[in-house]
Amino acid sequence: MSLPKVFLTQLIPDTGMSLLKGKVDYTLWSIDEAPDPDIVLRDVKNVDGVIVTMGVKLDRIFFEKAEKLKVASLYSVGYDSVDIKTATELGIMVTNTPGVLTDATADTAMMLMLMTARKARENERIMRTGGWTHWSPSLFVGKDLAGSALGIVGFGEIGRAVAKRALSFGMKIIYTSRTRKIEYEDRLCAENVPLGELLERSDFVSLNCALTKDTTGLIGEDELRMMKKDAVLINTARGAIVDQKALFRACSEGWIYGAGLDVYEKEPIPLDEPLLGLENVVMMPHLASATKGAREGMARLAVTNLLEALEGRVPPNLVNPDVLGRLRSF
Ligand code: DGY
Repeated sequence: MSLPKVFLTQLIPDTGMSLLKGKVDYTLWSIDEAPDPDIVLRDVKNVDGVIVTMGVKLDRIFFEKAEKLKVASLYSVGYDSVDIKTATELGIMVTNTPGVLTDATADTAMMLMLMTARKARENERIMRTGGWTHWSPSLFVGKDLAGSALGIVGFGEIGRAVAKRALSFGMKIIYTSRTRKIEYEDRLCAENVPLGELLERSDFVSLNCALTKDTTGLIGEDELRMMKKDAVLINTARGAIVDQKALFRACSEGWIYGAGLDVYEKEPIPLDEPLLGLENVVMMPHLASATKGAREGMARLAVTNLLEALEGRVPPNLVNPDVLGRLRSF
């Protein structure tokens, strides 16, 4: 019997690749380059499964081309790049990699909070360019985390991991979420409030919600103007949750203290993006899950999901369970 055919958009760590050996007949678009959308469309025509890395859009055109596809296994926790409705309609399972990147992402949120609060970018530049001429009580002064209020938007696994860290920094936690998470409120000393109140009360706001039609543009000019003048916005979720033009104005005109960002409306970020010129905005290249442990965990999970689906079982991280009554036949 021939092995199922699988297409990978990029090489993933060996914790995943080694599990594929002998189980599937795979082709790899590239070791490291960004996949060319036209070639992806050509190469997925006859495959049973795909492992898809960030930046590849799985839209209706993709699913219609992939005539034999049974499972699209994402090498990411976010699945905003996937047309879930079409995949479900066509009987294709979609899976993701939750849990394994929670700590790495929460660490990144804390890193951005600290770097923005302590003006890491500006102070480092001053030092490297000879501006550190003496010690003074008024030099290089930033914001305290201890005693400040952290507002978390989205209280899922990652939001709660941020709360856990922030508590040990002495921060007070308030949160808003699609559904109230009463079971975590005592443990994390977290108070549930509406978004408007969260924006008004927080010294730091951390975005940790998924990108959906309800959260696209959630933080625009009105919301940024509701924040305190010395508040910091942190985004490790998805760029499109924030109106980037409004954020530029907020950070350059002093509506807020600054921002720490890992994600953008367009990625990779164009070099003419005005935010790049602001020193009170700390920016990282979508690296929240870029630790060895997280990336290895993602590889293991992405392959496990794929193999379970191809072997006719329900994969552990199925994001479209409605597909189960209408799966493509094996
Ligand atoms: C995800 O998994 O959705 C991250 O944004 C990239 O690792």
